[in-house]
Amino acid sequence: MRKKIVAANWKMNLNLIEGADLINEIYKGLPELNESNEVVIAPPFLHIPQTVTQLANMEYVFPGAQNCHHEAAGAYTGEVSASMLNNAEVKYVIIGHSERRQYFGEDDAMLAKKTNQVLANNMQVIFCCGEPLEVREQGGQNDYVEAQLKAGLFHLSEAHIKNVVIAYEPIWAIGTGLTASSAQAQTMHQHIRAVVAEQYGAAVAAEITILYGGSCKPGNAAELFSCEDVDGGLIGGAALNADDFLAIVSAMINS
Ligand code: 13P
Repeated sequence: MRKKIVAANWKMNLNLIEGADLINEIYKGLPELNESNEVVIAPPFLHIPQTVTQLANMEYVFPGAQNCHHEAAGAYTGEVSASMLNNAEVKYVIIGHSERRQYFGEDDAMLAKKTNQVLANNMQVIFCCGEPLEVREQGGQNDYVEAQLKAGLFHLSEAHIKNVVIAYEPIWAIGTGLTASSAQAQTMHQHIRAVVAEQYGAAVAAEITILYGGSCKPGNAAELFSCEDVDGGLIGGAALNADDFLAIVSAMINS
């Protein structure tokens, strides 16, 4: 059975004290998780050692990172490598978030290299895809997302694609309060699974976890997660509040 995941992407929010407090609050209310229902917390890089220590006693809650550099090491001032993250005991790395693509000029070729770095360093990738509003308005979202997956992921071997989680995050729904309807999410997730099946076969596609992200909150999580091909969520704003995040985790467990 494929794994369900709720992953927190804190983006560039919270200082060290606020981050530690939030994880303490989450710890107090965390429902029982298991190998089919995981939680990931991806704080800013600076938090990672502290977060790893805090999560060490929480079963099935894993530390993540929001990015890594596409080269292994070297003169790249200000950057963090995948091997550093692995050494710090990070388990998941978010690659290709639309904010990275848009504000930091990360293109498909770079994202393919980042994906390779994460996998070569024995971590798992949370690979983000999703269309802008103008593409959705013209009905081009399926082709757009398919092209992102092909360019960023489909060079991978079957063994490697099994260590990838896909996160569908329509750009028009991120931080806007606009959420994809459960029908829109299901239609796209089904398409993503079909595209993976075409490349890697039905068995691989059936096992791959596909998350939804974009204004996911307690009020809509249960409906989104009840869709057949929606295997959890990548959560921004609502992950900064313990009660909201815990409600979304519960929605995953009950879905
Ligand atoms: P919001 O949940 O704030 O819309 O952000 C979604 C997101 O970008 C998660 O990576």
